[in-house]
Amino acid sequence: MHQVGSGTRGVHGVVAVVLAAGTGKRMHSERHKVLHPVGGRAMVLRVLASLRDAGVRAAVVVVGHQAEAVTAAIAAAGPTLAPLHLDFALQAEQLGTGHATLAGLAAVDRPRAGPGPRGSTGTALVLYGDTPLLGAEQIGDLLQAHRDAGAAATLLTAMVEDPRGYGRIVRDAGGRVTAIVEDRDATTLQTAIREVNTGVGCFERPSLDAALAHCRPANAQGEIYLTDVVAHLVGDAQPVLALAAADPQAALGVNDRRALAEAEGVLRLRTLHRLMDQGVTVADPATTYVAETAVFAPDCVLLPLTIVEGACDIGSGCTVGPGAHIRDSRLGAGCRVWQSVVEESVLGGGVQVGPFAHLRPGSRLGERVEIGNFAEIKNSTFGDGTKQHHHSYIGDAELGAHVNVGAGVITANFDGRRKHRTTVGDGAFLGCNSNLVAPVEVGGGAVVGAGTTVTKGVPADALAVGRVRPTVKAGWAAAHRADPVQAPRPG
Ligand code: UD1
Ligand code: CA
Repeated sequence: MHQVGSGTRGVHGVVAVVLAAGTGKRMHSERHKVLHPVGGRAMVLRVLASLRDAGVRAAVVVVGHQAEAVTAAIAAAGPTLAPLHLDFALQAEQLGTGHATLAGLAAVDRPRAGPGPRGSTGTALVLYGDTPLLGAEQIGDLLQAHRDAGAAATLLTAMVEDPRGYGRIVRDAGGRVTAIVEDRDATTLQTAIREVNTGVGCFERPSLDAALAHCRPANAQGEIYLTDVVAHLVGDAQPVLALAAADPQAALGVNDRRALAEAEGVLRLRTLHRLMDQGVTVADPATTYVAETAVFAPDCVLLPLTIVEGACDIGSGCTVGPGAHIRDSRLGAGCRVWQSVVEESVLGGGVQVGPFAHLRPGSRLGERVEIGNFAEIKNSTFGDGTKQHHHSYIGDAELGAHVNVGAGVITANFDGRRKHRTTVGDGAFLGCNSNLVAPVEVGGGAVVGAGTTVTKGVPADALAVGRVRPTVKAGWAAAHRADPVQAPRPG
């Protein structure tokens, strides 16, 4: 993290103005553009988190289109953004980024509770809510460069392969920035410029206010552009600096679904590369999706078609995949999860899950537990070495160590109104197709015979068996086949 002047005037003299009022038409969405998630988190929240990580302590978010939804989403995330202090400004009509900035600055100048400069002084750091890949590094570097140069404005720019859609940075023969020209207003010569405006800029006030006052909606979109302040500042002989971001991908502005997918892809690869650098093997990065919030110990192997979501903590030497989907779970060392779903569960070391198992929320498995084909577990605890291999459901249960759960065992945990618990002691053997009608307890070392429906407690080391004895009729099947009425007709 590049915290600039944390605890000094550098960052404390800065208020960020985050523009998030636009209509975002190119998304064709009912949802506000800045609330679309990238890597599981709304774009605007990513921008705000980067501000916080860069040491900025005050931000005004400019809202307009769907103001209520945007404000509510940001306010709800407020505590996770501490100590960044948030205020909101309303841009009732979306007349352009310059107009939105004016609305934001008006809120900065209003008496308010949070940190940051008062009145038209200090530094305004203006950013857009649709740049989800912008990191604290870029913000920190920009603030530092701005402060070091003593410029009136410092712009974060990026050299990109495909500059279409972005404002171009126009420089004079001496390399000095003279203007930003929007894509739609650019001449053919200017469209060839590959240095683009990222939308992140530091501006000294009151120079910014004066320049904004000169901006007019005399452009292809009929909007008041923030980018026009650059030409006004330069015309006024004020120093304007441009800092090219080391990582141009960080500048990606998301205007449509294609860019949304691109941002998601960049973020995903960033996470996978970081994991690889930490000693995790990723067999097929193209089909592996890991949340930034997941933590892996070294020597884990991620096999293809695997998704790891939310806050996961995966122990060393685990093999995850192929086809695993793990969410908000903790795995001990040396586990294997393949072709299975694991949600909000905790697994001890050396646990095997899969193929085709489903651990639902609240599954807590001890060491070396084995969960196999078509096994479902919910809100249950298993002791060490317990095995549940085939076609079975254990819900709301406590199983001791070394319990054998036979094929087709079902805990009948729901009576139609309420859920009840099942308890099974260490070393118990639950025969195939047995039903445990909860609430019920099977003692340690007890055996439940195949096909038994257990409705009352089974003491330790007892046998519980209850099944209809079959009637066996010798030769019946052969006679049945020979019967011309019963026998299947040819054709
Ligand atoms: C803008 C810049 C462009 C830059 C690009 C970087 C301008 C005029 N252009 O273009 O130079 O290369 O970002 O991604 O600034 N917004 C408001 N109120 C408005 C209009 C927009 O709050 O009236 C907000 C939007 O919600 C958005 C941000 O400002 O978060 C940028 O607006 P957008 O329309 O996406 O600008 P671009 O065309 O991408
Ligand atoms: Ca944009």
